[in-house]
Amino acid sequence: MCGIVGYTGPRQALPLVLEGLRRLEYRGYDSAGVAIVDGEGGLSTAKKAGVLGNLEHFIDSGDVALAGLTGMGHTRWATHGGPTDRNAHPHTDATGRVAVIHNGIIENFVTIRKDLESRGIEMRSDTDTEVVAHLLGQAFAQGPTAGDLPASMAAVCRCLEGAFTLVAGHADVPGMLVAARRNSPLVIGVGDGEMFLASDVAAFIAHTREAVELGQDQLVVITSHGYEVTSFSGREADFKAFHVNWDLSAAEKGGYPTFMDKEIAEQPHALADTLLGHFDGNGIVLDEQRLGEDELRTIDKVFVVACGTAFHSGLIGKYAIEHWTRLPVEVELASEFRYRDPVLDRETLVVAVSQSGETADTLEAVRHARRQRARVLAICNTNGSQIPRESDAVLYTHAGPEVGVAATKTFLAQVTANYLVGLALAQARGTKYRDEVTREFELLSEMPAAVATTLTLMDPIRELAADISRSKAVLFLGRHVGFPVALEGALKLKELAYMHAEGFAAGELKHGPIALIEEGLPVVVITPSPKADPMLHSKLLSNIREIQARGARTIVIAEEGDDTVAPFADFLLELPRVPKLFQPLVATIPLQILAAEIARSRGYDIDKPRNLAKSVTVE
Ligand code: G6P
Repeated sequence: MCGIVGYTGPRQALPLVLEGLRRLEYRGYDSAGVAIVDGEGGLSTAKKAGVLGNLEHFIDSGDVALAGLTGMGHTRWATHGGPTDRNAHPHTDATGRVAVIHNGIIENFVTIRKDLESRGIEMRSDTDTEVVAHLLGQAFAQGPTAGDLPASMAAVCRCLEGAFTLVAGHADVPGMLVAARRNSPLVIGVGDGEMFLASDVAAFIAHTREAVELGQDQLVVITSHGYEVTSFSGREADFKAFHVNWDLSAAEKGGYPTFMDKEIAEQPHALADTLLGHFDGNGIVLDEQRLGEDELRTIDKVFVVACGTAFHSGLIGKYAIEHWTRLPVEVELASEFRYRDPVLDRETLVVAVSQSGETADTLEAVRHARRQRARVLAICNTNGSQIPRESDAVLYTHAGPEVGVAATKTFLAQVTANYLVGLALAQARGTKYRDEVTREFELLSEMPAAVATTLTLMDPIRELAADISRSKAVLFLGRHVGFPVALEGALKLKELAYMHAEGFAAGELKHGPIALIEEGLPVVVITPSPKADPMLHSKLLSNIREIQARGARTIVIAEEGDDTVAPFADFLLELPRVPKLFQPLVATIPLQILAAEIARSRGYDIDKPRNLAKSVTVE
């Protein structure tokens, strides 16, 4: 959360910084701000609460001169201090000559702040970030690091605790930006005679696809001549250069009204690309495996840890992993995992699922698991991010960049990756013969086509959405893998349409939630295949009858040709027949579209739901 951009080179920095911020706005949109070093001894800032458009209007009004070849920008997801103009980044020191932007949380800021205040420094914001600007201004002004911006920044970083990506510029050092990172993301874009800094390559992909990823506790200095990476103690440091293999069009809307619409439409590709390269004829292949086959074979239990939508993918994965491997699988919210002392040892595999690879709760769960000597396998969509770096094995979902805050294509890709992990474990443990693994993979390979067909069947859902958009609440019911789908459907509706929505295991309804049913309440039911599991199907049919009898408006998602369910459905949507375990890959799609369309008909911005950020780098 929070997006960071920096530029230095021969071009005017402002338009490049604003363009970068536009691509990073998914990381937060509580406020936005820029600082430009003008090369003539001056530094100017402009910042505004709210979306980036507010800042752009303000800049267009021409009140601040923002010409210069070195600049930085920030789009904020507020943690300390409300989303106001005064709390917007960049923050400056008392002289206004140094500017700092920050992503993360400085955990010891209260102590530092008190110390600064006791020395007569007046704070002008409620943020944790401002203290860094003051410390940096002081370190640059006097003492052993005076006049040396990189050394000053390194000295400041050594005093900070918590998570941070920081970028700083100084009026006295035009043509240079200094950045540092600990537990928050930072990449360098290496252009031709120009350099970029960003939280994510999307910010500079239009200008260069050559990037460098910074490691933990590293500092980088950029000038138009190049970059230099060191540790916080000033020593030379290792870093990883890489070529970005997706292009600008992947980060743009491609003719769709919103990123979310585009990303929903891209789901067949997201799935197909996730499968690509993960099967080599002999079996499932992981992307990075720093774990021997022997070690995989000795695994005796699995935890899946994740947050939000990624957690729901794990709940689905559990059914497949247990079924194929006969290993017990627990799925746990990453934010709860390490606080309850889970039983972990060398024979435990912790599967950490994270689109961004930087979610703080998931990262800390990974670290906790590793401290207990458990093995960690990451499922991640962001190459080289922190969670895969700290894991023993990685399976990348190749869903491409996802900009819409509500996860869609990355969810289906995560579900697919969970299936692949199940098959990889089954193969390593010998609980499935090679030809069985091959057969399951072949069935999985048919799913992109089923997803594409599903996408063509969505018009009735769009009409229904307009019809129920004024409802007070919507309930979602499912059994077996349909249960996590119900949870995901409810989450999407909460996130996007700000409606009260709950997902329940259909069998649990009679133990309490049925009291919520009242006349006309929309209840979405994910129905299992009558052919694949007649018993489960008939149980669910009874649940539909129970709620219909109590006045609910039944919205039934069923398999094509399921005649038995029609009499109890006020609305029926038939989806392609797919294997039982893979049903979430088709059944989630109408729920994504339902939530998006309800939100749209209520007038909300579906790419940027209120209060949310795509990547949550604080606990
Ligand atoms: C945020 C996003 C969710 C996402 C969750 C986990 O809350 O808004 O859409 O599911 O983080 O993110 P991750 O990057 O770890 O998958």
